[in-house]
Amino acid sequence: MSGTDSGIEYYARALRAPRISDGYQALGEQARQGGWTHEEYLAAVLSREVAEREASGAALRIRAARFPGHKTLEDFNYAHQPAADRNLFAHLGTGTFLHEARNVVLLGPPGTGKTHLATGIGIKVAQAGHRVLFDSAVGWVARLAEAHDRGQLAAELARLRRYKLLICDEVGYIPFDQDSANLFFQLVSSRYEHASLILTSNLSFSRWADVFGDATVASAMIDRIVHHAEVINLTGNSYRLQGRIKPQTLAN
Ligand SMILES: Nc1ncnc2c1ncn2[C@@H]1O[C@H](COP(=O)(O)OP(=O)(O)OP(=O)(O)O)[C@@H](O)[C@H]1O
Ligand SMILES: [Mg+2]
Repeated sequence: MSGTDSGIEYYARALRAPRISDGYQALGEQARQGGWTHEEYLAAVLSREVAEREASGAALRIRAARFPGHKTLEDFNYAHQPAADRNLFAHLGTGTFLHEARNVVLLGPPGTGKTHLATGIGIKVAQAGHRVLFDSAVGWVARLAEAHDRGQLAAELARLRRYKLLICDEVGYIPFDQDSANLFFQLVSSRYEHASLILTSNLSFSRWADVFGDATVASAMIDRIVHHAEVINLTGNSYRLQGRIKPQTLAN
C-alpha cells in the first residue's frame, strides 16, 4: 500500500496529530534503511508528535505569561551575582516548588537581576508545562481593582489560582494606598498554601510597612509569604551600570 492511501493521514487528522502526517513517510524511509523494528518506528513517529506538541505548548505558555523580556537562567551571569546560587535556581527551574505552593522572594537593589531571575524561573516552569502570569505589583493591583469594581474580585482570585505561578515584580517601587494594600493582601492570602508567587522587591521586609502604609497588614502578608518560601537577597551594584558609571558618581 502506498503512503498516501494507507489511511495514516486520515487517522492523524482524526487524532489531531498533524505532525504524524508530515513525518511518517520520511521516518518510514529511515526505518527501512536502518532496519528498525515496528516498535522503534512507532515510537519515533509518536515521539516526534509529542516533542513538537510540547514545544508549541511551551511557546504558547511563554507568550501568554507576558514576561517583560526573554531572560533565561542560562543567560544569567552567576559570577557577577554571588548571592544567587546556580544550583538553587536550576532547582527552582524544575518547578517542584510549585507542587507545595512555595514562594520565591528576590530582594535587592536596582539592577541586581531580580526581574531577570524571576523571568528565567518563569520561562523554565512554563516549558515544564505550568501556567504562569507575570505583572508588576502595580499591575496586579490594577487588575484586582478592576475586578473589584465589577463585583468580581473573588471570581478573579479563584481564576488566578488556576495559574500555578504568578510573578509579582517591583513590590515597593510605588507605595500603595489603603485600598491597593488590601487588594494586594487578598492576592497573597488567596494563594497562601494553594499556589505559588514569585515576588521581587528593592526593599527589605522591614521596610514593607512603608509600602503598604500599615505595619499590621505588612506583617500579616510577610508572614504568609515567607512561611513556605525561598528568600534570596541579591547584592552588589547594578548590572545596568557595569562599565558605564561608577556607583560613587551616582551618589554625588
Ligand atoms: N548577573 C547577571 N547576568 C546577566 N545579566 C544580568 C545580571 N544581572 C542583571 N542583568 C541584566 O541587567 C539588567 C537589569 O537586571 P534586572 O532587570 O533583572 O534588575 P532588577 O534587579 O529587576 O532591577 P530593578 O529593581 O531596577 O527592577 C537586565 O537586562 C538583566 O538581564
Ligand atoms: Mg526589575
